[in-house]
Amino acid sequence: MGDVLVLGGTGTTGRRVVAGLREAGVPVRAATRKPGEPGQVRFDWTDRSTYAGALHDVSAMYLLPPIGEVSPARLVEPFLDDALAAGVRRVVLLSSSAVTADTPGLGDLQRLVRAAPEWAVLKPSWFMQNFTGEHLVAQGVRDGEIVTATGDARVAFVDAGDIAAVAVRALTDPGPHNTEHVLTGPSALSYAEAASIVAARTGRPVRHRAVSTAEFAAWLTASGIPESFAAVLAALDEDIRRGAEDRVTPAVEEVTGRPARSFRTFAEEEVR
Ligand SMILES: NC(=O)c1ccc[n+]([C@@H]2O[C@H](COP(=O)([O-])OP(=O)(O)OC[C@H]3O[C@@H](n4cnc5c(N)ncnc54)[C@H](OP(=O)(O)O)[C@@H]3O)[C@@H](O)[C@H]2O)c1
Repeated sequence: MGDVLVLGGTGTTGRRVVAGLREAGVPVRAATRKPGEPGQVRFDWTDRSTYAGALHDVSAMYLLPPIGEVSPARLVEPFLDDALAAGVRRVVLLSSSAVTADTPGLGDLQRLVRAAPEWAVLKPSWFMQNFTGEHLVAQGVRDGEIVTATGDARVAFVDAGDIAAVAVRALTDPGPHNTEHVLTGPSALSYAEAASIVAARTGRPVRHRAVSTAEFAAWLTASGIPESFAAVLAALDEDIRRGAEDRVTPAVEEVTGRPARSFRTFAEEEVR
């Protein structure tokens, strides 16, 4: 068996996948545009000359698609061709609960990975970790106001560590999963409810301001997100407002054997 290649190996889910694989004693290579640490390999979606080195002697990979790309298949399709030709057998795609095979752009990837002999598609709900780090929601936590177009609808936020734990199983279980896993946390919360849990943790007030889809798209663009991608993100909030993310699945526990982490535990352990 070759190494496991983790694309986005420095990111929110990827670095947790790398850590989980190392803990399990699996040889792993973390892809990044700027390798500087042992176990990292240079990979850049926009530079095809980096593909062969990253794929050399790899048998399975965690596929984090190029971020912010409205039509990611134009980069992912040639990369997957190279990967399968280089001998990669198993591909685990990070997709999203909001994406189906019919979703323009991102949906194409769910079809493409089925060309691998062994595959899994992870479809997480919105990440708990959006409330920390550089995400706009986290910025809202720091500013005291989270802006969304989700109204008072609920989202079953999921922990990035749980996504990674499922990915590790999908990458290393003897039998391929060859299925989609819709991944959620153990309960669904509105942004106002999530904000109050975070505020109780930090001791600083945080409110949720619900705006219309059009106002949210304009707000995202003003925050520096390209207009076409802002429209995609605002439409996802509208789906949430209609109830698309108000459901809990048992997939994390079924795959990993342990319950999904709650938002409250996440806030206690990760929000500062
Ligand atoms: N946030 C959510 O609530 C949510 C919910 C469902 C699904 N998702 C999906 O999750 C994905 C984001 O996953 P994540 O949070 O784990 O990622 P992330 O933390 O945003 O990390 C992005 C990774 O991409 C790498 N990267 C950036 N540009 C690159 C390029 N040109 N070539 C190669 N690598 C590049 C970065 O590595 P270097 O900078 O080291 O090169 C980094 O490791 C998105 O596809 C999103 O649709 C997110």
